Amino acid sequence: MNKLPISRDEAWELVKKYNQHEQDLIHYLESEAVMRNLAKYLGLSEEEIEYWGILGLLHDIDWGITKENVETHLTKAPEILRNAGFDEKFIETILSHGYGFQELPHLKDKKRIEKIQHALAASETITGLIHAYALMRGKRVSDMEVSGLKKKFKDKTFAAKVDRDVILEIEKIGIPLDEFFKIAIEGIKNIKDKVGLI
Ligand SMILES: [Fe+2]
Repeated sequence: MNKLPISRDEAWELVKKYNQHEQDLIHYLESEAVMRNLAKYLGLSEEEIEYWGILGLLHDIDWGITKENVETHLTKAPEILRNAGFDEKFIETILSHGYGFQELPHLKDKKRIEKIQHALAASETITGLIHAYALMRGKRVSDMEVSGLKKKFKDKTFAAKVDRDVILEIEKIGIPLDEFFKIAIEGIKNIKDKVGLI
């Protein structure tokens, strides 16, 4: 595991430099929280938990400056991250969450293969489902149950843009879907005050 070139606070400042919309910032914080809890669940070291968390926090670093032209999403990220001192391995993992997306010509033909790649893609994707479900429940995540979330997962009309297949990639790294729901809900619960949930 490579060392991170910047602290968590510096990473957060970097995120805010390129992203201003509250909903986007909430998505990054939730992705970080899910990644941290997932790494913890897997029994990884403190250093690795930090690394996984920062991947979640920075995964869409260039979104704020590319969303007007979606096909350019993740084309600016490498330079931003390189300038901040991140190595090519970290950058490739960030890019991997866009692999397979038809909207991204530069990444659509690539496939995720590594454990950490599936973890990042599944984690950042499940935040959309949990946040939407929490809003439906009067912002409550504290008493959210796996069974309820599972129903929303199965209902393809609910938060229809959330790609269920990407969430299912978690099974490729040996984590059952129900277990992942639990890990992700818990992760977001840990930071609920920061993301407008209760
Ligand atoms: Fe994202």
